[in-house]
Amino acid sequence: MGYVGWRPAQEVLVNGLRRLEYRGYDSAGVAVADGKGGLEVHRAAGPLDNLVAVLPDDGVAGTASGSSAALRATTGMGHTRWATHGPPTDRNAHPHTDATGRVAVVHNGIIENFAALRAELEAEGVELTSDTDTEVAAHLLARAFAADPDAGLTAAVRAVVARLQGAFTLVFTHAERPDEIVAARRSSPLVVGVGQGEMFVASDVAAFIDHTRDAVELGQDQIVTLTPEGAVVTDFHGETAKTRPFHVDWDIEAAEKGGHDFFMLKEIEEQPTALADTLRGHLVDGRVVLDEQRLSDQELRDIDKVFVVACGTAYHAGLLAKYAIEHWCRIPVEVEVASEFRYRDPVLDRSTLVVAISQSGETADTLEAVRHAREQKARVLAICNTNGAQIPRESDAVLYTHAGPEVGVAATKTFTAQVIACYLVGLALAQTFGTKYADEVAREYAELESSTDAVARVLEAVVEPTRALARELAQSKAVLFLGRHVGFPVALEGALKLKELAYMHAEGFAAGELKHGPIALIEQGLPVVVVMPSPKGRAILHQKLLSNIREIQARGARTIVVAEEGDETVRPFAEHLIEVPSVSTLIQPLVASVPLQVFAAEVARSRGYDVDKPRNLAKSVTVE
Ligand code: M6R
Repeated sequence: MGYVGWRPAQEVLVNGLRRLEYRGYDSAGVAVADGKGGLEVHRAAGPLDNLVAVLPDDGVAGTASGSSAALRATTGMGHTRWATHGPPTDRNAHPHTDATGRVAVVHNGIIENFAALRAELEAEGVELTSDTDTEVAAHLLARAFAADPDAGLTAAVRAVVARLQGAFTLVFTHAERPDEIVAARRSSPLVVGVGQGEMFVASDVAAFIDHTRDAVELGQDQIVTLTPEGAVVTDFHGETAKTRPFHVDWDIEAAEKGGHDFFMLKEIEEQPTALADTLRGHLVDGRVVLDEQRLSDQELRDIDKVFVVACGTAYHAGLLAKYAIEHWCRIPVEVEVASEFRYRDPVLDRSTLVVAISQSGETADTLEAVRHAREQKARVLAICNTNGAQIPRESDAVLYTHAGPEVGVAATKTFTAQVIACYLVGLALAQTFGTKYADEVAREYAELESSTDAVARVLEAVVEPTRALARELAQSKAVLFLGRHVGFPVALEGALKLKELAYMHAEGFAAGELKHGPIALIEQGLPVVVVMPSPKGRAILHQKLLSNIREIQARGARTIVVAEEGDETVRPFAEHLIEVPSVSTLIQPLVASVPLQVFAAEVARSRGYDVDKPRNLAKSVTVE
């Protein structure tokens, strides 16, 4: 984040960084003018509060250091870090400075050629004081500015970005330009906040929404020069650049905890609304419509193969897309983690549709998969929760999930919203291909709408008993998850939630694979969560899973079974039965996932962990 204006910059920055902490929280720092023609930089490993503890306050508090002049500074920058190069220590925290301490920089992304640049600087006698890729940018800027101070800071930044390779969104300040902040964007997002006599720049509007709701989104390879009077945007060659001004209309309250201890718990409860909001307005005159479509119907009709690419939880939503799209459209669908997809030379052409799923719309692996697909002339459809993010911007068609801001690092409401969005995409394709008549599409759509009530009923019925169960099992060494058919992605997702929040060994398996290896893991007292299919749907699947439960019980497992209300056949085999409403096959993953989210959150809480900010993770993974 950067600020230039009339308020005390340090305060603006700290408040802004609180809102950005979800992006990374292993260290933080700020740099402001020191009132003596230099910069005052404070950095601290750990959460933002560690930084706050070392910042100058009113000059009275004993713990603080630094000058009180810094408190009056009205220009500055700040950062919360998610480490890529070098451990999360004080010295690796941003901002980084040049040797004189007159230039400071904060950075998101990875400078891929930093080793060569570092060697070049060291050969010139520059001493680098951190392990980061970022620090080279501060030294390069100092050098470029010193070479021609009259050309200005923006020209110096332009010279620096011309030397960098990789992903870099950078914010610079120079002590000799006390009323100026210059930022450059390649890859990671950057938005400018336009105030009265003050300007902001940040990764997310949340950082400055308390001060202004007028914003400008920076495009790829653009540089913005901020002074209290305004912003000038140019491209990396110095030409005036086009920008996209917008007004932020969402309420910051929506991002507050709403009475819960953790955002994640609030976000779990918001799922019925997230589903309803995602579905709303997508059936128009009997046809399913996307939010943006830059493809003709004929181009869509020409599609003969679908790839779904995504990471983490979004990948699990993608696995469910396969069941729906293949079933409704009779077209082959492959689902792949984005980081693997682009490196294995997938067979793509203009009749391939790549569906990219990403909550943030900025996940580097997914974004690069999208770019690779487009280079091969494939069509790309994005499912995204962030309006105007890079992935939808680079796609041919977009369907937004309207789950609202998700602050907890663990995806919950955005997962179920992604699943429902995948189903909408399936219906849109089915109507285009003519594999479903309008009345069939309308019936399926109504089925999707029924999911909101079903999820609301799960929330009413299962939250408390599931929490009690989680507390009972919180000290387990490991937990396994089993499912078949659409229950398999649910098992994977249940295991991922437990891993990332409770730091517990958790694995999800296709129940049919049990006998091919994983059953060797079963030992006395091991909790195994089983996601049962409905006995009314495919009875054969239900019977097979019952057999799997018997097999693990015989080997001493504790069985926790998520099953449909009224499924009496499973009761004798379930040490703990979690009953969910009876719904259609494709809706079942939505209702079955909710108790597993609650379970993971409560196990984590019982173990004393921060549910919203699990260790080593960040909400948006903008590096590969
Ligand atoms: O923003 P994205 O949907 O692209 O993020 C993908 C994953 O990083 C994300 O789903 C991650 O796995 C979550 N922390 C899981 O809860």
